[in-house]
Amino acid sequence: MKYVAGITGIGISLPERVLTNFELEKMVETSDEWITTRTGIKERRIASIDIAASDLSTQAAIEALSMAKIKPEEIDLIIVCTVTPDMMFPATAAIVQNNIGAVNAAGFDLSAGCSGFIYGVTVANQFIKTGLYKNILVIGCDILSRITNFNDRNTCVLFGDGAGAVVISRTEDEGIINQYIKVDGSGGAYLTLPAGGSRTPASFDTMEKGLNYTHMDGAEVFKFAVKAMPDAVNHILENTGLNILDINYLIPHQANIRIIESAVKRLHFPMDRVGISIDKYGNMSSASIPVALYEVYKDKKIKKNDKIVLVGFGAGLTYGALLIKWLI
Ligand code: UT7
Repeated sequence: MKYVAGITGIGISLPERVLTNFELEKMVETSDEWITTRTGIKERRIASIDIAASDLSTQAAIEALSMAKIKPEEIDLIIVCTVTPDMMFPATAAIVQNNIGAVNAAGFDLSAGCSGFIYGVTVANQFIKTGLYKNILVIGCDILSRITNFNDRNTCVLFGDGAGAVVISRTEDEGIINQYIKVDGSGGAYLTLPAGGSRTPASFDTMEKGLNYTHMDGAEVFKFAVKAMPDAVNHILENTGLNILDINYLIPHQANIRIIESAVKRLHFPMDRVGISIDKYGNMSSASIPVALYEVYKDKKIKKNDKIVLVGFGAGLTYGALLIKWLI
């Protein structure tokens, strides 16, 4: 028996609080002009202190379940893709499972940086293809403001908070057509959260040195990204025998508009078929791709049976792409 999977529901959750470039001008030595021209970001959302990753994940999941017309007890597995879990354990997936009453589900968190959602959907697809599971929730959620040093202008202008969730179900028509995921650990040092793990546990010393915040060599990550994204998309095209112009819409990870433009140019793909939400939300890590996908769907830029490529890169350094057929 051949089983196939597709996205049957999608939902998002974004904190209400908007942090503008103009507010950041008062916090660090930066300007709206610099942030806009160097990154494409105008504003981002920041979760209030009482909100954790499981809260945004739960809200996004409830909307996705409602669209898919799936009851929580029909969910077999919950994968929360995040680098900002509520805590190291239990997994955020376990908290979401309890919040939504998914009483028959397994659950785990997946750490693949900003490529988390691509990895999560890939994993979910395998569970459906083997016939083991019928309905899986994949959630990309990050509250990057919790691990951002708001005294460091190199990073604090880039990040934001949010969540996006999809229901992946066994479907008649194949919705998740192809995937390609990779990791290149040789570049791992370019994007890290140095302290708080078993190598360098959190301490007063690490707090003083700012090691509990994201550290990034932006230029190195930039160089990696502009090659990795076209590379992943080209693998998908090779795997499926498709031409880039057979793709109706491209949804890239939203880290920097210049990275997106450069990758899209290398692919010879038109910018007016690229999902962009970085101006409103900044880089939300695992949440960026599902949120951008949700918005192009809500804006009616994609329609049933369209072929869509999702592509991302992030800490690891990870990268990957997915080819989906939109079934909703
Ligand atoms: O999801 C994956 C995670 N991250 C990324 O994908 C980020 C990838 N990298 C990038 O997006 C870009 O490298 C950045 C946006 C981080 C930086 O842009 P850039 O064009 O590579 O700038 P730069 O690092 O080469 O810095 C240029 C100048 C420097 O000043 P000097 O040394 O030339 O005097 C920086 O100190 O811009 C300065 N600068 C800033 N100025 C105003 C850096 N950050 C800021 C800032 N405001 N926020």
